[in-house]
Amino acid sequence: MIKIAPSILGADFARMGEQVRMAEEAGADWLHIDVMDGHFVPNLTLGPDMVKAVRKSSGLYLDTHLMVTNPENFFEAFAKAGTELLTFHIEVAPNPDKNIKLIYDLGCKAGLSLNPDTPVEEVLPHLSKVDLVLVMSVFPGYGGQKFIEESLERVSTIKKYILDNSLKCAIQIDGGVNRKTAPGVIAAGVDILVMGSAFFGAERPAELVKELKSL
Ligand code: DX5
Ligand code: ZN
Repeated sequence: MIKIAPSILGADFARMGEQVRMAEEAGADWLHIDVMDGHFVPNLTLGPDMVKAVRKSSGLYLDTHLMVTNPENFFEAFAKAGTELLTFHIEVAPNPDKNIKLIYDLGCKAGLSLNPDTPVEEVLPHLSKVDLVLVMSVFPGYGGQKFIEESLERVSTIKKYILDNSLKCAIQIDGGVNRKTAPGVIAAGVDILVMGSAFFGAERPAELVKELKSL
């Protein structure tokens, strides 16, 4: 069954504790923490202290998406803050194996992400070494963007590679996911949906979660 990972970038920052508890009550499985450094992506967002705060407010699995240059410099701080999973971008990882080892040595799960204009071939050789691949369906930096349709084919290619090679790597998609785009990505083989604006902007988030889990 699909897992739902609300991105707290889409939450009301003035009520973060309340929003995180609401996500848990609505049936979310993970919380997606969007970390941006204003360099790899234009926006500047959340640091380890936010993870610490969210950790205190929720028992949900914390999934930290590092949209930062030199992600290896941040692994320890986010691991100590309480995240379970650390995802870095292939575009800023000249030595992915080194990053993956650092993440595992910190006791976290490892994720690898690629932007919409990065060929999937750049991540395929690493999928046997990580727990998750995060396919960006928008150019990272902001919530509320439009889903890039070509992402579906990229997910299918990655899914085929995982199945053909009997890998344990989960597929996560991130950006412009909502009740309209979700059926297509689930059919293409995604395991975890990241949703920012569609989740925190929903009238009835619990109903949205129930609907998506029934697809
Ligand atoms: C974009 C972030 C996404 C984004 C998702 O840079 O990585 O996680 O917050 O937000 P929506 O679901 O609104 O596109
Ligand atoms: Zn993200």
